[in-house]
Amino acid sequence: MKIVCCNDYKEMSRVGAGMVAEIVKSKPACVLGLATGSTPEGLYAELIDMYKKGELDFSEVTTVNLDEYYPISPENEQSYRYFMNTKLFDHVNVDKANTHVPSGSAEDAAAEAARYESFVRSLGGADIQILGIGRNGHIAFNEPAEALYPATHVTGLTEDTIDANARFFASADEVPTKALTMGMGTILSAKKIIILANGKGKHEAVSAMLSGMVTTSCPASFLNLHADVTLICDREAYEG
Ligand code: F6R
Repeated sequence: MKIVCCNDYKEMSRVGAGMVAEIVKSKPACVLGLATGSTPEGLYAELIDMYKKGELDFSEVTTVNLDEYYPISPENEQSYRYFMNTKLFDHVNVDKANTHVPSGSAEDAAAEAARYESFVRSLGGADIQILGIGRNGHIAFNEPAEALYPATHVTGLTEDTIDANARFFASADEVPTKALTMGMGTILSAKKIIILANGKGKHEAVSAMLSGMVTTSCPASFLNLHADVTLICDREAYEG
């Protein structure tokens, strides 16, 4: 795993956006694998900036997101679809029809997971996958467990995650109890992966990932099996 240790969040976001921009410029019809969460917001802002300066063209780009709550409507402000529209898609010239997030409103969650998996596979995987990392080492909604799923699947949210998210929803019963998420194999099918981490809170997870061992107790450690992964982090995440 390559490591780029940056001074701060801004630099981390710039380096990450630079790597994404390189792909978009060299392959205009590329597939971008995207993540939600607070970590990549700065990277998306940098991409929007480059687009506004005329440096980037997203007209031929296809995007695939890692995950989505289930059940949730795309109009719900807490949905990952809403997040992507407002943080990136609405501000660049990507064709919305070419942006893909697992559907939180599909009738049959398992069928949607299977459909999404074959769709991502039919694209040949992402040309570059952007990842964040959870404090416990999760990537997408692949939480530490005795065994991990290779393909896109339906997963229950931990009590912790439900509690943490409750404040964002109008009422407790609006909090989705499940999610649709790419599995470890779907993520590893990307040709290139960048994983972003900032702040002391991520240090433990980053250290576990960098220990070199592969263990289901730190799903991010599976990235050690991939030939082209770059960790882009700030000093706090790297040094603690
Ligand atoms: C987001 C995702 C999550 C986040 C992770 C870190 O699509 O799949 O795994 O990357 O929870 O979240 P933040 O960036 O908010 O610290």
